[in-house]
Amino acid sequence: MKALLWTGVNETSVADVPDPGVQDPEDVVVKVSRSVTCGSDLHLIGGYVPFMQQGDVLGHEFLGEVVETGPNVARHRVGDRVVVSSFIACGRCWFCRNELYSACDNGNTNPAVTEALWGYAPGGCFGYSHAMGGYQGSHAQYVRVPFADVGAFTVPDDVSDERALFASDSASTGWMGADLGGVKPGDVVAVWGAGAVGQLAARAAMLLGAERVIVVDRFEYRLASTERHIGCETLNYERDDVQAELRERSGGRGPDVCIEAVGMEAHGPGYAYDQVKQQLRLQTDRPTAVREAVLACRKAGTVFVLGVFAGVVDKFPLGAVMNKGLTVRGAQLHGQRYVPMLLDRMSKGELVTEHLATHVMPLTDGPRGYDLFKNKEDGNLRSVFLPNG
Ligand SMILES: NC(=O)c1ccc[n+]([C@@H]2O[C@H](COP(=O)([O-])OP(=O)(O)OC[C@H]3O[C@@H](n4cnc5c(N)ncnc54)[C@H](O)[C@@H]3O)[C@@H](O)[C@H]2O)c1
Ligand SMILES: [Zn+2]
Ligand SMILES: [Zn+2]
Repeated sequence: MKALLWTGVNETSVADVPDPGVQDPEDVVVKVSRSVTCGSDLHLIGGYVPFMQQGDVLGHEFLGEVVETGPNVARHRVGDRVVVSSFIACGRCWFCRNELYSACDNGNTNPAVTEALWGYAPGGCFGYSHAMGGYQGSHAQYVRVPFADVGAFTVPDDVSDERALFASDSASTGWMGADLGGVKPGDVVAVWGAGAVGQLAARAAMLLGAERVIVVDRFEYRLASTERHIGCETLNYERDDVQAELRERSGGRGPDVCIEAVGMEAHGPGYAYDQVKQQLRLQTDRPTAVREAVLACRKAGTVFVLGVFAGVVDKFPLGAVMNKGLTVRGAQLHGQRYVPMLLDRMSKGELVTEHLATHVMPLTDGPRGYDLFKNKEDGNLRSVFLPNG
């Protein structure tokens, strides 16, 4: 089969690799109809997460058709149209029973790396390096889905592929940020990053009853897309005084919940300083937007970090966290907790995502799709690949 591989720092290519098959009784094999780029892939492709191996198949946000089922699969049959949560979870460990699926104890078959880095290993993820289990990704004609009864969800007939696709990763992530960030009716919510994750966090905040939602970025086309398709307010940090505007728009108090959807490759204030330190390996990540969120947040508010970080950061405003009484949280998505609810909202038209698929192309154009996405060119929000035509 054809697959899009990581072949070195800032290098991807399409090549033939062996077809996957059922390995465990709880697996299914999915014929991928759509697989999409994610900001997380950029961190892998750029070498910021140094646990990729040449020839690893990329991709973790996808939808397709079940073509093979293991003997213990009860919820799926050959022919089912399924969307699959990007994080791989067993469904029965202590964490899964508490709906903390990305913390699953059995999803990551290679826990030693992250145990050494973080104390305990999170679950596994498709196409997300050997620190997250070394699973092959979904930018391929076929993908093996472990624990399929837990992680794969049948898509209702009235939800299109273009819409359901995003339940896999970006919509679940965005929803988790608003939900676990504790957004309540009447809240003012600020979101850093107008990519798919930030936009869908903003939409989730609105659906949870926030009174004002403000999304911050520097790309006008992304802010315009957010205003048009999500229906909330925006700020351009290259033009607006973000801290002053957020104070003003929250009645002088500061946003109740601040959601960071940018991650370790942030731009903006302090960029040059952070980039030099990152390149010298004195810090692994650029926490620019996290710092901004911590400063902007109202006293006793919550900052939720959705953006991916790998290790240690410099100049983290711990004094502000402590003295303002903030709650700071973060997580990889607990997708299995949200996908059925998201599909239901998609079916009712409350959650629309089609506008995020700005560039749809055959898998063989994958390297170009990543260039457009990485450089934010040609109005790109996400590139969607069609591995089977
Ligand atoms: N927690 C999870 O489970 C999870 C799941 C999916 C993605 N992510 C992460 O979420 C982040 C966003 O993903 P995406 O797909 O939307 O990425 P993206 O690259 O499409 O968007 C990131 C946006 O952040 C903006 N940005 C950069 N610096 C900024 C700053 N200082 N202030 C405000 N905006 C700034 C960029 O201009 C860009 O528009 C990434 O770090 C990704 O790895 C996390
Ligand atoms: Zn992702
Ligand atoms: Zn588990």
